[in-house]
Amino acid sequence: MKALVLSGGAGTRLRPITHTRAKQLVPVANKPILFYGLEAIASAGIREVGIVVGETAAEVEAAVGDGSAFGLEVTYVQQDVPLGLAHAVLIARDFLGGDEFVMYLGDNLLQQDLSELVRRFEAERAKAVSPRLGEDPVVPAAQILLAHVDDPQRFGVAELDAAGRVVRLVEKPEVPPSDLALAGIYLFDHRIHEAVSSIKPSARGELEITDAIQWLVDAGQVVLAEILQGWWIDTGKLTPLLEANRLLLEGIERRIEGQVEDSELEGRVIVEEGARVVRSHVRGPAIIGAGSEVADSFIGPFSAIGRGCVIRHSEVEHSVLCGTSRVIDAGRIEDSLLGYDVEVTRSARRPRATRLMVGDHCQVDLS
Ligand code: G1P
Repeated sequence: MKALVLSGGAGTRLRPITHTRAKQLVPVANKPILFYGLEAIASAGIREVGIVVGETAAEVEAAVGDGSAFGLEVTYVQQDVPLGLAHAVLIARDFLGGDEFVMYLGDNLLQQDLSELVRRFEAERAKAVSPRLGEDPVVPAAQILLAHVDDPQRFGVAELDAAGRVVRLVEKPEVPPSDLALAGIYLFDHRIHEAVSSIKPSARGELEITDAIQWLVDAGQVVLAEILQGWWIDTGKLTPLLEANRLLLEGIERRIEGQVEDSELEGRVIVEEGARVVRSHVRGPAIIGAGSEVADSFIGPFSAIGRGCVIRHSEVEHSVLCGTSRVIDAGRIEDSLLGYDVEVTRSARRPRATRLMVGDHCQVDLS
């Protein structure tokens, strides 16, 4: 079993952060989203991982390296134009060979243990290879993971029959046949290769993995469907990203490695090494990243303050600060995502005004 992790794409729904960064490297609970997926793959016992990279290849390669830090052997596959998820499988053919693989979208986060899903696929395939009397000996070609969602129009959607078998899959349907979205974690065997080279581009000009799986169904192959347990988040936009940060912070344990003076730390708070909290109040779950300084401030629940930030005379709650930002006399900041090296300050300069230098696609919501 190998893994194919997709870490390309333009990340248009997370601009401006993604003008300069790969969306898969935005940190949630102070760790890049992509790392959670790589860790899940490693703990499922998979070693060989292909990472499909696009424009942000250099940044992804700098962060992940040869994969040894995760116990993985990583091969990079360059996708020059983002032509779709099925296209990623097509260009990874040499790396994948004839092996079974997990395809994992690098901006997806999954609470459920990946090894359970891998084991189920392997067990169902083994069962079919040596069928009991009267059983259909068809070896499943794929396994998909489905989640009930409120907005199926945003996803690939599956229709199941009464026995729970996949009968139809449609990508971003205007009129969804069900509320079952395809989560970005799939299992395939070699038969997906014929599927991805047989389908045509969709209306958005991409080779859709959803269409490739439909091709397998139409060819009479068995596609297993698993209904997801626990949460799953496609972090590609601000609201789900903050939600992922919240869910991951729910799971942290208190750990104080930095310096804390005249401050109150309530509940599950992490103060990383070299961080300083002075005359402040931190209400967990929250993380203060290595080397950051929090002075005369309040840090509220579900805040992840990255490395090297300075927060003075301000309040921050339910927000992600990626790192090396300065928030000074800023009042109260909530539900926000700050990239790297951002400055939010208040000055006494006249005339009193809001002075901005913000890049393209920024959002400023004044109180
Ligand atoms: C992709 C898939 C879609 C799936 C989703 C999961 O959508 O095309 O079927 O439900 O990932 O995150 P995209 O992120 O390309 O819009």
